[in-house]
Amino acid sequence: MRLAGRDLVAIEDLDRPAIEEILEAARALVPAAEGGSVRHTLEGRLVAMAFFEPSTRTRLSFEAAVQRLGGRCLTIADPAATSLRKGETLSDTLRMISSYSDALILRHPNSGAARLAADLSDRPVINAGDGSHQHPTQTLTDLATIQEACGSLVGRRIVILGDLKYGRAVHSLIWALALFGNEMVLVSPPSLRLPESVRQRVRHLAGRIREEDDLATALADADILYVTRIQRERFPDETEYRRVAGSYRIDRATLEGARPELRVLHPLPRLGEIAPEVDPTPHALYFRQAFLGVPVRMALMQSILGGGA
Ligand code: NCD
Repeated sequence: MRLAGRDLVAIEDLDRPAIEEILEAARALVPAAEGGSVRHTLEGRLVAMAFFEPSTRTRLSFEAAVQRLGGRCLTIADPAATSLRKGETLSDTLRMISSYSDALILRHPNSGAARLAADLSDRPVINAGDGSHQHPTQTLTDLATIQEACGSLVGRRIVILGDLKYGRAVHSLIWALALFGNEMVLVSPPSLRLPESVRQRVRHLAGRIREEDDLATALADADILYVTRIQRERFPDETEYRRVAGSYRIDRATLEGARPELRVLHPLPRLGEIAPEVDPTPHALYFRQAFLGVPVRMALMQSILGGGA
């Protein structure tokens, strides 16, 4: 699959060889992502970062990726400073930003905003998170982290904990893990279970999914624990959020029964889901995961804009 000039709206837009190619390119780009060498693949290219929702890692790692490859960024980090405030439609805003740049990276609270942008724009559009729908570049980062830790992306047992209903990172991740034939054990508060629509989408893939109520049982033979934040901003009703807030927390005691090789991932930001006491243990991989967002996004931008993987 040639990625040059294509959109990345959902993780399904990538087939398995394309994902493997991006991950391989990302591995080779780690020294450049660390600042050890300079690449010029995106020289003369201008990439728009249109972020209509808060972001730290995703926006900064995209900006770092583009600039480490010699490109430049046009950034909207504060939607209140745009003409959307004057009542301009999202379609008009997106059409215009896309005409100013060579590619558009979009984060928006509406599920479907990235699809809208891709339909309007004749430049590549990359979804940096649309509502509770998908977050495909987070998934590429997650896969790179799992591959680095476990050596292989195939046949792993992965516990996914937390807000599986509204978590867009999880909705993309589950598809990719299923594509690579992994076993997923889902643990969540009953009201935040994985939507049936997501489960149906991955049904034809090789991976297996089961639910487990007891975290300790789920963790006993797991390779990876993927923890997520409860997505407070997606709840239609704050009292519903309060009912589940703080309902799970990973600390050293939780990890005592797990394999020493268990690695803990989290797309971040974390609230109380992982106690800081876990950070210095060999289990903690979430800060490495956040760093790997840079080489992964470099590899992706290179494939889409630079004409090569
Ligand atoms: C995630 C997101 O925005 O969906 N964060 C991120 O991009 N690293 C997860 C979250 O906000 O909980």
